[in-house]
Amino acid sequence: KESSTVSITVVGASGDLAKKKIFPALFALYYEGCLPKHFTIFGYARSKMSDAELRTMVSKTLTCRIDQRENCGEKMDQFLERCFYHPGQYDSQENFLELDKKLKEHEDGRVANRLFYLSIPPNIFIDAVKCASTSASSANGWTRVIVEKPFGRDSESSAALTRSLKQYLDEDQIFRIDHYLGKELVENLSVLRFSNLIFEPLWSRQYIRSVQFIFAEDFGTEGRGGYFDNYGIIRDIMQNHLLQMLALFAMETPVSLDAEDIRNEKVKVLRSMRPLRLEDVVTGQYKSHTRGGVKYPAYTDDKTVPNDSLTPTFAAAALFIDNARWDGVPFLMKAGKALHDRRAEIRVQFRHVPGNLYNKNIGTDLDLATNELVIRVQPDEAIYLKINNKVPGLGMRLDRSNLNLLYAARYTKEIPDAYERLLLDAMEGERRLFIRSDELDAAWSLFTPVLKDLEEKKVVPEYYPYGSRGPVGSHYLAARYKVRWGDVG
Ligand code: BG6
Repeated sequence: KESSTVSITVVGASGDLAKKKIFPALFALYYEGCLPKHFTIFGYARSKMSDAELRTMVSKTLTCRIDQRENCGEKMDQFLERCFYHPGQYDSQENFLELDKKLKEHEDGRVANRLFYLSIPPNIFIDAVKCASTSASSANGWTRVIVEKPFGRDSESSAALTRSLKQYLDEDQIFRIDHYLGKELVENLSVLRFSNLIFEPLWSRQYIRSVQFIFAEDFGTEGRGGYFDNYGIIRDIMQNHLLQMLALFAMETPVSLDAEDIRNEKVKVLRSMRPLRLEDVVTGQYKSHTRGGVKYPAYTDDKTVPNDSLTPTFAAAALFIDNARWDGVPFLMKAGKALHDRRAEIRVQFRHVPGNLYNKNIGTDLDLATNELVIRVQPDEAIYLKINNKVPGLGMRLDRSNLNLLYAARYTKEIPDAYERLLLDAMEGERRLFIRSDELDAAWSLFTPVLKDLEEKKVVPEYYPYGSRGPVGSHYLAARYKVRWGDVG
């Protein structure tokens, strides 16, 4: 290890993602002692900046979970000394050759491993990959490239992107990030299922009535309207973050924990899914709303969004996996911006207890009396199971109580940011949490027809007030499959 070095080049270093997530995650890894002894970080972007200016910029953004800790200032100074900047165009071989020269100086004859993190818009993506791989790849170590979504807009454009990427890189050099896979509770899904006897035997159509994947944000597309309007919530959240959680949730037991074994099972689930139909989708868009004297904007108030935009900022969908385990079980998804709260969770609703002796003590709403397992990905990470319980006293009345594993109460160790885990895995060559190209194809096949339908038919979204619970249409959709959304029950 002593004789090798890793350099991490953040391409698009002055962008939002780099500032908010990538540099803080790299610093957290450094603080935790997870970066190799010899490492260098390069920022690469078009703006003119000196090393010192980059360090100032980075230091301002290191408002990560570490900054309350002991020695933080000292460690930060050491970290910043290892950060450098190289200005350049994303499509300039010459500029990347200059970068290569600088990287070589830092590598000082050691085995040079190079990681490029492409945090740039899709239209310059391939140019940057081409230049990085032809002018700045390692001569004697590995070269890996982390890429961020959007990976195209539909099956066709995604396949074209994959083809172009593969002109310059092998599949095992490409690390497609879905940062939800780096979240602690998503990582824990397989542990919960496969290392506890009590869950896996129930994990099928026989005991599970519906599974729900819910993503909500209590803010709009503020400042990102330009990007968002081209994609919409289905592409931004459902096709990747929610679908990835679904695949991990529903896959068969993999042969081992090896990346290929896990990804093989995920692809199988995705390929067993029934193409999503337009009638199983509800879309919405937020409109302005005044609350407590404050006026919250409509989506179309964003200057970068056309006034007549039909882009959904909310969507709910009912999906089905046509295999023996899940036949007929509705997998509901709901994702929205500018809703009343912020959360990401998986809710597993179990079936009724057959011939339940206590039906009469439960009350009239039997639906509310079924068990529900909730995996709250964020905020306040938790896993809890709703059970029926006797209310203490001489009578016999039942209520629903929670068996509750609240992470903050159980674990003192802080939860790392998803990007920390993913960056570390990319450096270690661990591919389990990255998306393979066949997974990506399968994910697009599922959503492309409905996305085309929505756009060609110019389906008008249901308007919902900023800060509300979203369109009522999502309740009708759930009711059609005889279920209710757990988060409102
Ligand atoms: C991104 C989406 O992938 O995930 C954003 O593009 C969204 O629109 C974000 O806000 C949510 O991530 P997190 O980790 O804050 O839940």
